[in-house]
Amino acid sequence: MSIKPINKRVIKKIIKKSSKHSDSNDKYDKMLSVLAEYLIKTPKKLNQPPFLEIGTRGGGSALLMLKIIEKKFKDSFLITVDPYGDKPYDDKPWTYGEDFYKEMKKILSSYGNHIHYYMTSEDFLSIMDSINFWHQGKKKNFSKFSFVFLDGSHLPQNVKMEFKILFPRLIKGGYMVVDNTDYFDNHLRNYFDKLTLKNNSMKVSSTDIQSIIHKIK
Ligand SMILES: C[S@@+](CC[C@H](N)C(=O)[O-])C[C@H]1O[C@@H](n2cnc3c(N)ncnc32)[C@H](O)[C@@H]1O
Repeated sequence: MSIKPINKRVIKKIIKKSSKHSDSNDKYDKMLSVLAEYLIKTPKKLNQPPFLEIGTRGGGSALLMLKIIEKKFKDSFLITVDPYGDKPYDDKPWTYGEDFYKEMKKILSSYGNHIHYYMTSEDFLSIMDSINFWHQGKKKNFSKFSFVFLDGSHLPQNVKMEFKILFPRLIKGGYMVVDNTDYFDNHLRNYFDKLTLKNNSMKVSSTDIQSIIHKIK
């Protein structure tokens, strides 16, 4: 199915609006523009499977995803997963609590095609096969995702767990964008680069902070 291109000016506007709810710096805007680029390249399908974001914070990247879904994938929706609750965060001295949760709910509240799961990715991935839900009169499940953005915990063992469960569910031609793969001495970047040599169903490319995994088969 062919998809209509989104004008570059519109994308710039979406990035500007979304980055207000995040770090709002050049590095962050670059991350959002990579996210937008690969969301737009997502193959269009009949009954488009959901888009998924792990790690939502104040909702900046989720807003960008919803705005692109609204323009190009009208019959689809966005699932976000984040435990908030000031859960200890990786090895960092800060946490993500109620203020971020409230900001996320406020900026995403007008989107009827957004569903948030207030839990860790580990919990969501362990229950997702027991959840059915309804969207536009049709019963849906999480057997497939159109696109996956991993930006929750950046600990290598957590990201590898998310990747192993979610990559097989990605649609053919779909993308998974993984943020901050340069952390821990490029551990995850090297992991994905090695994996792509053994696995002919994926191709990996990288920016200085992200890895983009394309499911080619
Ligand atoms: C880097 S921030 C996400 C930024 C957001 N994607 C954006 O660009 O605006 C990381 C988020 O991951 C969440 N998080 C931490 N551990 C998680 C886990 N195990 N599963 C899912 N999300 C997690 C945190 O609560 C935090 O909101």
